[in-house]
Amino acid sequence: GTIQWYPGHMNKAKNQLEDNLDLIDVIIEVLDARLPLSSRNPMISNLVKKKPHIIILNKSDLADPLQTKRWTRYFQEQGNFVLSLDAQHNTNMSTLFKIIKLAGKEKIDKLVAKGAAHPTIRVAIAGIPNCGKSTIINRMIGRNAAIVGDKPGVTKGQSWLKTSNSDIQILDTPGILWPKFSDQVVGYKLAACGAIKDNIFHADDVAMFLIKFLREHYLNNLSNFARFDKEAIEQFNDIDLMLAMTQKYGMRDDYDRFSVYMLQRFRKAKLGRVTLDIK
Ligand code: G4P
Repeated sequence: GTIQWYPGHMNKAKNQLEDNLDLIDVIIEVLDARLPLSSRNPMISNLVKKKPHIIILNKSDLADPLQTKRWTRYFQEQGNFVLSLDAQHNTNMSTLFKIIKLAGKEKIDKLVAKGAAHPTIRVAIAGIPNCGKSTIINRMIGRNAAIVGDKPGVTKGQSWLKTSNSDIQILDTPGILWPKFSDQVVGYKLAACGAIKDNIFHADDVAMFLIKFLREHYLNNLSNFARFDKEAIEQFNDIDLMLAMTQKYGMRDDYDRFSVYMLQRFRKAKLGRVTLDIK
């Protein structure tokens, strides 16, 4: 998911969700488990107030497991259904289906009371670019990727897909939300995880942010990656550390190149499993 950064999209995506809201029984909000706050869209809370709502902390394979546990508890305590997920490697969505059924139970009970034989729960998925929405939709539809057909009120070109659970259907087009991007730190966090385009910030600024952050919260990880022991790292200021790392990695004084490399490694969790919003 690479999409240009401008507000037109933000409104369009919001409207798409709002337009379909009457037809949606459960909204799945996908967050990046490395950024449970920074990858949230402030507008979603208004939308989901009206609907049962599930939070997926996706890419949990890349996030710090202790932090994921804390964030899961935090969101649960706020009354949400929460699931941490690795949609890239986990093909079994049965836990997600179970949670969807819990979230949609009220609607199902109503329909059953009215005499419906096979009531269906209809879910929509929303989240910022690159958080794994398409991957999750594909996992949910599995081999039964059949289009159910357009229904009145559904935005043109959108349709419901059968999932591998016959009681659950999903809107084929995810709602793309924009992160709030309220301050530069949030921007750096999003950029570090590849949630916003690489041309919005300079790689060296993002790498410098990451060095500061890791020094404060994940010193062991930084030490391993930098190939300096912790005591040595404490001797350097951030800039000198970046230059020393650049040299250690045989890139002379090309810290731009080193920054790009460091970000690539970070995004693949080669600096370890790191969460950038600390709970
Ligand atoms: P989107 O629809 O929300 O925009 O996201 P999409 O499913 O396209 O996923 C974006 C990238 O994230 C994909 O990688 C996908 O494989 C990866 N991804 C999705 N879920 C997970 C997960 O749980 N864990 C991990 N590690 N990766 C996940 P890609 O196509 O290679 O794109 P990119 O990595 O080059 O951006």
